[in-house]
Order: sequence, then C-alpha cells, then structure tokens
Amino acid sequence: MDRTFVMVKPDGVARGLIGEVVGRLESKGLKLVCARLEKLPEKRVMDQYREHIEKPFFPSLRHYITSGPVFLMVWEGRSAVPVVRSLVGATNPAEAAPGTIRGDYALDIGRNVIHASDSPESANREISIHFTPDDICSYKRVDEPVLYE
Ligand code: RTP
Ligand code: MG
Repeated sequence: MDRTFVMVKPDGVARGLIGEVVGRLESKGLKLVCARLEKLPEKRVMDQYREHIEKPFFPSLRHYITSGPVFLMVWEGRSAVPVVRSLVGATNPAEAAPGTIRGDYALDIGRNVIHASDSPESANREISIHFTPDDICSYKRVDEPVLYE
C-alpha cells in the first residue's frame, strides 16, 4: 500500500479543523497509521521545506509554520499521494475547487490549512523527517475487504 505524509498547519489546528481533516481522509477509505501533535523544531522545518528555502515567501512560511502546534500524520491506501492531493485542493485556496479542504476552509495561500506530499518520493522523505519506522502502526480496517476490488 502507498503512504503519504499529511500535516494540519498551525492555522488549521488553531481553528479546530483536525477532526474535519481526519474525518475526510477516513471517509475516503484511507488508513491513519501514525499521528503526532507538536510544535515543529526549526531543523525539521528546514528539512521539510528544503525546496522552498530560497523562495521569497520562505521567511514568512517558516515563521507561520512554527507559530503553533501542527498535527503530523501518515496515511496509507491505494494511490494515497495523488488521492490526498486531490482532496486537499490547489495551493492557493482562492483557486481551490469547492469540496476540497482548501476550497472549503481557506482564503489565503499563506494560511492554507494543510500540507500533503506531492510525490511518493517526497512522501518517503517527509515521513522519515518526522517519524521512525517504529512509529508506524500496522492494523486492519474492518472495511478493507469492501474498499478494494
Ligand atoms: P504544501 O507543500 O504545503 O502541501 O503546499 P503545496 O505543495 O500545495 O505548495 P508548495 O508549492 O509546496 O508551497 C508550500 C507552501 O508554501 C506556501 N506558499 N506561499 N506566497 C506564496 O506565493 C506561496 N507559495 C507557496 C503555502 O503555504 C504552500 O502551501
Ligand atoms: Mg508542497
């Protein structure tokens, strides 16, 4: 099964949206295999967002992402990476389709509620930044036999 890394950002945590995000991914049929609420240390922010370090928006992104606790998760399921990206919606919430998390819950690109890995390679890299293999739980959802052909 494929895995992806998902993070409710500080605005999403502060607005009480953890349950909404978790509920949407659970309803889709994905399986939560790891989670932690914490304030991110600087080192892991730099690792997480390394491709953006030189970009003009990085100082404000770094400030915002460390401004409060985030909710880190690993989700498992078939095509988990593209499936979660489609549930999350476009980076700019003003352009995100209704029905997506950003489309339904955000207005500003700098306060877009959630992060999700953009490729299986990014997912593996990001999961290993925040978690060890021992952190990942293995269990069966009772609906697995009917979720997949
Ligand atoms: P994410 O990594 O958070 O899931 O978002 P994404 O793939 O949709 O977008 P990405 O290009 O990776 O950008 C990472 C985060 O940086 C902030 N951002 N601000 N002001 C700007 O132009 C700008 N561009 C990006 C957003 O918070 C975005 O989610
Ligand atoms: Mg990204």
